Amino acid sequence: MSILITGGAGFIGSHTCVEMLTAGYDVIVADNLYNSSIEALRRVEEITNKKVKLYEVDVCDKYALRTIFTENSIEAVIHFAGYKAVGESVEKPMMYYNNNLISTLSLIDVMNEFNVKNLVFSSSATVYAGDNSVPLTEDMKLGAINPYGKTKLFIEEILRDLCAANPDWCVALLRYFNPIGAHKSGLIGESPKGIPNNLMPYISQVAVGKLKRLNVFGDDYETRDGTGSRDYIHVVDLAKGHVKAMAWALKNTGCDAFNLGTGTGTTVLELRKAFMDATGMDVPYVIAPRRAGDLAEVYALPDKAEKVLNWKAELNIQDMCEDTWRWQKNNPSGYECSSKSK
Ligand code: NAD
Ligand code: UD1
Repeated sequence: MSILITGGAGFIGSHTCVEMLTAGYDVIVADNLYNSSIEALRRVEEITNKKVKLYEVDVCDKYALRTIFTENSIEAVIHFAGYKAVGESVEKPMMYYNNNLISTLSLIDVMNEFNVKNLVFSSSATVYAGDNSVPLTEDMKLGAINPYGKTKLFIEEILRDLCAANPDWCVALLRYFNPIGAHKSGLIGESPKGIPNNLMPYISQVAVGKLKRLNVFGDDYETRDGTGSRDYIHVVDLAKGHVKAMAWALKNTGCDAFNLGTGTGTTVLELRKAFMDATGMDVPYVIAPRRAGDLAEVYALPDKAEKVLNWKAELNIQDMCEDTWRWQKNNPSGYECSSKSK
């Protein structure tokens, strides 16, 4: 029996492949490599000394999905495949609605055809409405403001309806806070195309000399130092959360949401300082205007995941900075150089 991981060559997917393989599962990956490299999976194999079977397919393509389910005995699915850039989703909403929704609908149909009813889905803290108080708990008001966030919210709704009508299904909706860091080996990590939008990849590219300075988006928020505060979570902790969620999904029925965060907020300037302390590198910065759509402070109450899934984040900000830096300095251009040279 195998677990199908859609988007398994991506940032969170590749780390989850490592943890699932380490936990003893056989892993099949479906990824069209739109935002990833086959090199990531080669390195997953190097880290784990286990094989990953890759189907280079579009998850929107039901025929391709049927081939995977026909050729393998799939027990359950972890669904990462999707587009994730907020700004791009505002400019190209249909690209996001088409890819994120149709891939999920196709997957659900084919899972139903093959009687596979256990699913772990990549949701996001972005599904919470902006007027909630922090810490965020799973029962709080939902409401996304950009097309990317709306795809996550719509998919959550679809999966809730699916489970309500089909009580033998089990779906874990994992609401990630801000995943950063990289595997300790320095072999796999985040490899953003172009100039990064998110804070940690931006900081590490300043440190490695690819970008000149960090633009701090606003220093007049109601936070400790006026800069935005987020719940950064190590991607390896997040990946381990998927192993626990899969164990839960294989034993239960129904649809439930879980926050995967640490429960602690770190501001932009605190993360910059932690990065400099952990790496010895300088990260020059300037204060820039606020970024549209940003909230002052976002962090999770992760107690439900601890109670129900038996999962808790273990790594701290220093680990996240050290591991990001090891990955960044060993792979200044992400997977690009290595995939070309192999
Ligand atoms: P990623 O872009 O690194 O990984 C996504 C993977 O899906 C890529 O390998 C891409 O090639 C693949 N993919 C996209 N569309 C596909 C399709 N139609 N068919 C097959 N493969 C396809 O992103 P990530 O950071 O690893 O995120 C994984 C999931 O987690 C995404 O659904 C994302 O929205 C969600 N998420 C990410 C974050 C974050 O900060 N990284 C936060 C919350 C939620
Ligand atoms: C962003 C997305 C969110 C997504 C999340 C994880 C937006 C509005 N939100 O969230 O939907 O789920 O990424 O992928 O894009 N910052 C700077 N300078 C930078 C980059 C960021 O000061 O160059 C600040 C931001 O203002 C924020 C913090 O750093 O206060 C974190 O930003 P980021 O890493 O983009 O994550 P989120 O804003 O939480």
